[in-house]
Amino acid sequence: MTNQVYNFSAGPAVLPKEVLRQAAGEMLDWHGSGMSVMEMSHRGPEFISIYKQAEADLRELLAVPGNYKILFMQGGGLGENAIIPMNLAGCCAQPATIDFIHTGSWSGKSAKEARRYAHANVAASSEASGFTGVPPQSSWNLTPGAAYLHICTNETIDGVEYNFVPEIDPKVPIVADMSSHILSRQIDVSKYGVIFAGAQKNIGPAGLTLVIVRDDLLEDALPICPSAFHFKTVAEHESMYNTPPTYAIYIAGLVFAHLKKLGGVAAMEKINIEKARLLYAALDADDFYQNRVSHEFRSRMNVPFFLRDESLNEQFLAGAKARGLLQLKGHKSVGGMRASIYNAMPLEGVQALVDYLNEFAGR
Ligand SMILES: Cc1ncc(COP(=O)(O)O)c(C=O)c1O
Repeated sequence: MTNQVYNFSAGPAVLPKEVLRQAAGEMLDWHGSGMSVMEMSHRGPEFISIYKQAEADLRELLAVPGNYKILFMQGGGLGENAIIPMNLAGCCAQPATIDFIHTGSWSGKSAKEARRYAHANVAASSEASGFTGVPPQSSWNLTPGAAYLHICTNETIDGVEYNFVPEIDPKVPIVADMSSHILSRQIDVSKYGVIFAGAQKNIGPAGLTLVIVRDDLLEDALPICPSAFHFKTVAEHESMYNTPPTYAIYIAGLVFAHLKKLGGVAAMEKINIEKARLLYAALDADDFYQNRVSHEFRSRMNVPFFLRDESLNEQFLAGAKARGLLQLKGHKSVGGMRASIYNAMPLEGVQALVDYLNEFAGR
């Protein structure tokens, strides 16, 4: 086993070493306060300063317009599948209709959960072709007057990433699950009504969920929406209506500061393009490995692949582990392998994986 390991987990996932080192150094005594961040009141001046800096840095990194609130919540991506209908489906004639584009496991789960609160219309699906891309927008069967359109802009399990922002009736907000690629590429926040992301992939520890919501969408909650998950209530209390996940917010804040130091999202996107190019080129070199996603929708963050001879899977994983290439086993629902190459995965890590892919294939 080498000392240097590269962790390709889909999440919880690799974090920048610099951030972990800083957190370790500040673990027992944050900035001379005599307290660990974990021990601080969320209402005290120390934690409030951590929270405000994290919020400001994220706003800057994503150029979040002034008419959007950033909420630091709990509940994860699956929690949002219920929280968002409960916050947005009160907008129109009841029961409201929500449109979904079904491009893989996560958008499928979102539609299933939404059915508990509204009518969920699957406006397009790539299931018949094995989730290998995003159905062309011309084929979407959208509902006039829908409460919103839900998309998952990066399907973590299937490795499918949108390469466009849907152009739809501007009165219908787009809700985007960006859990596994937020901050990996530049986005225009103003094109979306709500963006949400569990933190445990490209941001920080599990337990924190980011929500970016346009102001005018704070008024449409269903009466059953719990107060702790009511966007308007959470926004009015600057994410402190109840106790937020303080330590996860602190680590996320360190990651945001780190990204700013590296040149922000534009700089990360450039590196991410290069990492993905390198990895897909090795997978495509011959038919020893296979990635089944249409080239234009291949994810830059999550790269599922299969060995042509699947009887070699265990041998492949054991050899990878021996080289310090960890957590490459594919999701149980699809099998095969998956390499998640988030912001914190350095180019050298992808190069080490590529070297191993070539060696294992006997190239
Ligand atoms: C795109 C996407 N959405 C939602 C989820 C679910 O997130 P959580 O486990 O935080 O509920 C995941 C988790 O892997 C995901 O990748």
